[in-house]
Amino acid sequence: MKPSKVPTLQGPSSRRATGQQRLLQTVRLPELVRENTQSLRRERAFQGITAARCLLSSRPMESKRILIVDDEQNAREALRTMLLEEGYEVSEASDGQEALEALPEFAPAVVLADVRMPKMDGITLLRKAREAGYDSAFVMMTAFGSIETAVEAMRAGAENFLVKPLDINAVLVVLSKVLEKTRLVRETETLRARVQERYRFPNIIGDSPELQSVFDVVKRAAPTRATVLLLGESGTGKELVAQAIHEESPRKGKPFIKVNCAALSESLLESELFGHEKGSFTGAVGRREGRFELADQGTLFLDEIGEISPSLQIKLLRALQQREFERVGGTQTLKVDVRVVTATNRDLAGEVKAGRFREDLYYRLNVVAVTLPPLRQRKGDIPALVNHFIEKYATNYGKVVRGLAPGTLNALLRYDWPGNVRELENVVERAVVLAPGSQLTADDLPATLRGPRPLARSAESLIPGATLYDIERESILRTLEMVDGSTARAAEVLGISVRKIQYRLKEYASSAPSSEANESNEDDTETDEEAGGRTH
Ligand SMILES: Nc1ncnc2c1ncn2[C@@H]1O[C@H](COP(=O)(O)OP(=O)(O)OP(=O)(O)O)[C@@H](O)[C@H]1O
Ligand SMILES: [Mg+2]
Repeated sequence: MKPSKVPTLQGPSSRRATGQQRLLQTVRLPELVRENTQSLRRERAFQGITAARCLLSSRPMESKRILIVDDEQNAREALRTMLLEEGYEVSEASDGQEALEALPEFAPAVVLADVRMPKMDGITLLRKAREAGYDSAFVMMTAFGSIETAVEAMRAGAENFLVKPLDINAVLVVLSKVLEKTRLVRETETLRARVQERYRFPNIIGDSPELQSVFDVVKRAAPTRATVLLLGESGTGKELVAQAIHEESPRKGKPFIKVNCAALSESLLESELFGHEKGSFTGAVGRREGRFELADQGTLFLDEIGEISPSLQIKLLRALQQREFERVGGTQTLKVDVRVVTATNRDLAGEVKAGRFREDLYYRLNVVAVTLPPLRQRKGDIPALVNHFIEKYATNYGKVVRGLAPGTLNALLRYDWPGNVRELENVVERAVVLAPGSQLTADDLPATLRGPRPLARSAESLIPGATLYDIERESILRTLEMVDGSTARAAEVLGISVRKIQYRLKEYASSAPSSEANESNEDDTETDEEAGGRTH
């Protein structure tokens, strides 16, 4: 026991006080503190703490939870009484080890920790808490004069420190300042998540950073007349993006005309694109306008552009360069104002190298290129996509299916999705049709996806006996299932960043055992490279 410790609080009226309650009643708080605590009280009314958040988060949205860590019982009690009076939720720990164990469940906004304690001192506690990924704010309590300790505490990441013996006003001012800062950080993160959420196209689902980069280019290119080349594997959403480009352009409201270049023979495709005059070929009974004409003022989407023949490539090049063409069998030169968007799942640059696709046409089409990443590289989009398709097909088939049963998301994340979003859509459609209940279970998925039986216990029943990593995974997956797959909303509920959720989803999608994954970068500060470099 430390001889220097005095288990009392010194407040302006402490000498006359008969008990902590009276002491607190007579303390005059500075206006700032009063305002802060009042606004914090108001915010508390809106708190909805989910079981998952309690388990996982050390930074709940507007929590007033304070964990007092001090080996002196009297000091803890004095603080607790005062903080309860002020409307804080309080928990206590008598040393660093006990505090560390209390962090996951109590999820304090602030840890008020003594520096000198047996078993584990305050600074070690702070370091260990950070290592384990908890980001509660720390306010250290140090004995008067130990300025070096205070500096060390601040270096270790403490938000502030208080000198013992404690002064009530100082405690309250520091706490409300720290909480205000936490609240502001949270608000900024929420705003950022909202902005990101808005930064999307109505029909294109997904909030992974990979898709965000696509949105970024599409947003900038859409309002212009620039030709856009959409690349990416089959089923990644190229057609959806082509439509979005049209919808986001001033040509919205004018025609969006699609031609599948792979579906027609060379001569039929030519007539389809440019039209034909009566009698220009066998079967051309009347004059027909081509798709270029129909798309005048609007957008022409040439899908599977890699499939067109060399002679048609020349004609297309001229139409794009000079914005004029003739109908098949016609002599009149027609001029149109068409914005062209093309797509292919072939490696078009490779086709150019191999001499199968004209280089000049390639450059003409490739003014802005957008590559849709395969779904296996952006598994963070899976929760939102699944939810989107459940809603779509539940409505289509008139079925009451609301979401996923525990464990189903895990199975969906582990699969590789060679057919990309189209395959996911088919799997969800089939599951909605077959599902006997109101939630999709792993049994409703095709056998190839089921794999080993996933973790399907409730978060509460996981404890004790599970690693923190498993508890965190269960919390993240269950929360995503609860919030319709939106990583931004899950991040809000769990009090962690969207990046962390995206990063974790990539981890869960891999087959890495949890212990291995647990050793990976824990916090939100990982670099893009780290987050992006781990694709599975
Ligand atoms: N981000 C997304 N959000 C919602 N639906 C999507 C998304 N991406 C793709 N889809 C859906 O997946 C299916 C396949 O998408 P799309 O047809 O756009 O793919 P594609 O890249 O053009 O494929 P292909 O190369 O085979 O033509 C469509 O039903 C589409 O609506
Ligand atoms: Mg397509």
